[in-house]
Amino acid sequence: NGVSTEARGALIVLEGLDRSGKTSQSSRLLSYLEGLGHSAELWRFPDRTTSVGKMISSYLSNESQLDDHTIHLLFSANRWEKKSLMEEKLKSGTSLIVDRYSYSGVAFSSAKGLDIDWCKAPEIGLLAPDLVIYLNILPEKAAERGGYGGERYEKLEFQKKVAAYYQILRDASWKVVDALLPIEEIEKQLQVAVLDCVKACQGGKPLSCLWS
Ligand code: TYD
Repeated sequence: NGVSTEARGALIVLEGLDRSGKTSQSSRLLSYLEGLGHSAELWRFPDRTTSVGKMISSYLSNESQLDDHTIHLLFSANRWEKKSLMEEKLKSGTSLIVDRYSYSGVAFSSAKGLDIDWCKAPEIGLLAPDLVIYLNILPEKAAERGGYGGERYEKLEFQKKVAAYYQILRDASWKVVDALLPIEEIEKQLQVAVLDCVKACQGGKPLSCLWS
């Protein structure tokens, strides 16, 4: 009928403990996709640039105190405030590489003792990633990498609990990569998974919502 649907971009999420290497792999993936001529952007949550993001940032650096439920909902609100832009970008053909998303939200808050289903609830209706990449590292190994800054969650005992909740959230669709492999090896494995995902989205894979 002459109506052509434009190929959409892919929503690719990277998850993992602090110091698992997400951030450097995210920027390598961005260069990779751009190098192939794909339109792509690097996003991260929390997005500390918004007013909600500034409250989160001040909480993380221990400059302010908030009830566990309250900060959980702020992290979620920080994703909701970006949802329509996210959808726009994807529909216009731009792929998004996102450093942390709802899984961080649920894993970190559940690790504090909040009920996991309560934690998932405010994420319902956000866009579901087309691919979740998990950089797998033992908490002890991540701690050895040093560079845990002074932020609130950067403590070994807490990271162990977060790792346990990531295990619960993880399903067979996740691309799990050993974060102790050489950087270039991880990069190669991720490139294959990401390219497959981008092609599937271009080929008409529909966008869906959490939790799916
Ligand atoms: P991030 O900015 O990725 O950490 P870094 O300062 O190492 O770049 O995330 C800050 C912390 O916030 C991190 O420990 C994970 C945590 N977090 C949550 O608790 N809930 C969330 O929804 C998100 C996105 C992150």
